[in-house]
Amino acid sequence: MKVLVTGGAGYIGSHTVAALLERGEQVVVYDHLETGHREAVPDSALFVEGDIRDVQKLEQTMKDYEVDAVIHFAAYSLVGESMQNPGKYYENNVYGTKCLLEAMVRQQVKRIVFSSTAAVYGEPVQIPIHEDDPIVPTNAYGETKLTMERMMRWYETAHGIHFISLRYFNAAGAHASGEIGEDHQPETHLIPLVLQTALGQRSHISIFGEDYPTEDGTCIRDYIHVSDLADAHILALDALRSQSRSGIYNLGNGQGFSVKQVIETAREVTGRDIPARMEDRRAGDPAVLVASSEKARNELGWKPSRTDLREVLASAWEWHVHHPQGYASPSLIRKGGESS
Ligand code: UFG
Repeated sequence: MKVLVTGGAGYIGSHTVAALLERGEQVVVYDHLETGHREAVPDSALFVEGDIRDVQKLEQTMKDYEVDAVIHFAAYSLVGESMQNPGKYYENNVYGTKCLLEAMVRQQVKRIVFSSTAAVYGEPVQIPIHEDDPIVPTNAYGETKLTMERMMRWYETAHGIHFISLRYFNAAGAHASGEIGEDHQPETHLIPLVLQTALGQRSHISIFGEDYPTEDGTCIRDYIHVSDLADAHILALDALRSQSRSGIYNLGNGQGFSVKQVIETAREVTGRDIPARMEDRRAGDPAVLVASSEKARNELGWKPSRTDLREVLASAWEWHVHHPQGYASPSLIRKGGESS
């Protein structure tokens, strides 16, 4: 039996694929490579280039490879873009997930681990955030992820498909092998932008807002190592296989760091000058987002092991130094000249 990983060529998807392969799972990656990278998928995984809105191709893939479980990453995930073009997010994220679930129904695949987000909460009512806190997304991206979660609930009721939804906080860092890491086009996330500045690829890092009600006035986020997120997917898969029950879990390391703390720690880790400039607030940024992951710890047995911000930044820095152009870096261009 094989695990189908939609979006397995993306950032969190590829780290989860690596973790699945490390524990001996047979993996089929399904990705349309619009934002993912073929180079991020190791040769030991099967690869199908396809769109999640292609029900027939999904069904055929599930049938051909005797898929027993799905891990679903494939989605657009830029908050700003989702506000400009919500239709794009409903089309790919919501309709695409409906297509995936239909294919699962037809092929009798009964387990799905789902890549959700802290963006479903919107402005938090308390810190740390718990899974049963109010859910009021403040952007279209978060709304589509919430809709996808809710859709799964109804497919469970109607068709017995169990799901585990994992609500990530701020994914960061890179795999210990140095072979895979973060490469978004365009890049909007704080840590890669800070490290690109350290490499001299950007003149400065912008700090979006210094007037938040936090100690140093900048936003606080819960940065969680991508390999710790990957481990949680394996535990979720195990829980679905052994217990056949659904659940929703936050994944964060429970500690918050401000934008200024991230930049200062990056200066220490890289030994480089990282010029920073104050700018206005970015629309829609809550002041503080920190997770309570007690539920994942208690019920899935998850224990993040790379929780030191220095360690997270050092692993990301290792990737950026060796792959300054991401997957287009010369060291990663595939034999035969194929690149992303
Ligand atoms: N920031 C800057 N300068 C930058 C980029 C970011 O100051 O150039 C700040 C942001 O304002 C924010 C913090 O750094 O306060 C982190 O920003 P990111 O863009 O790295 O991450 P977000 O917290 O905005 O978003 C992340 C995920 C989203 C998810 C969200 C859930 O990337 O997909 O968490 O809360 F929706």
